[in-house]
Amino acid sequence: MNKPSMYEKVTYADVANMNKPSMYEKATYADVPDGVKWFFEKIKQTRRGIYLHGAVGSGKTHIAWAMAQQWIDNGERPPLFWNVSELIRSIKRDFGRHAYDRDHEEEYIMEHHGLLFLDDLGAENATDFVRDTLYLIINRRYEGKLPVIITSNLDLGELSDSVGDRIASRIAGMCDMVELEGGDRRLP
Ligand SMILES: Nc1ncnc2c1ncn2[C@@H]1O[C@H](COP(=O)(O)OP(=O)(O)OP(=O)(O)O)[C@@H](O)[C@H]1O
Ligand SMILES: [Mg+2]
Repeated sequence: MNKPSMYEKVTYADVANMNKPSMYEKATYADVPDGVKWFFEKIKQTRRGIYLHGAVGSGKTHIAWAMAQQWIDNGERPPLFWNVSELIRSIKRDFGRHAYDRDHEEEYIMEHHGLLFLDDLGAENATDFVRDTLYLIINRRYEGKLPVIITSNLDLGELSDSVGDRIASRIAGMCDMVELEGGDRRLP
């Protein structure tokens, strides 16, 4: 029996991984739409995550960082925050390294029982390796009732086409869906 549950135990993986890019330095909780706050503020009770999807540049990563900061400001255990493409890159990089030189991000993420952010899911090329890795992470979250906040350009149907229905089904089961309206904020 290895039944994980949120806040059950503190592990080495709970060290904050908050390398907030300077682009999102000014992201504040006031920027988070009410429809997202509604779910975010209930995460501790419901243990349900959020699947935030919308067009390119609509503000998903900005909002995710604002929530990550708010989570810490609320005194919660620091979340892990990963851009999915960066995570896959880091995991792949470890394969070619000596044990003493590895970053062990996969172990950290699998051991992390607090809140997890996965930014830009579905942007990476969905090779078998990517699908297998994402399946392991999502399934661990699902089985442990560990909340995850995901951002993506894809709606759930499109995500299913990209990474497969086993991953999409678990996300649908454990996350509330929010579509972020609006155009590309990067445009002048
Ligand atoms: N509510 C907001 N207030 C102020 N600036 C914002 C807000 N939302 C987004 N921005 C800014 O708009 C730009 C684009 O936002 P962001 O990078 O979050 O988009 P995205 O939806 O994650 O895009 P992509 O799909 O390409 O990853 C960023 O510079 C971000 O800081
Ligand atoms: Mg983004």
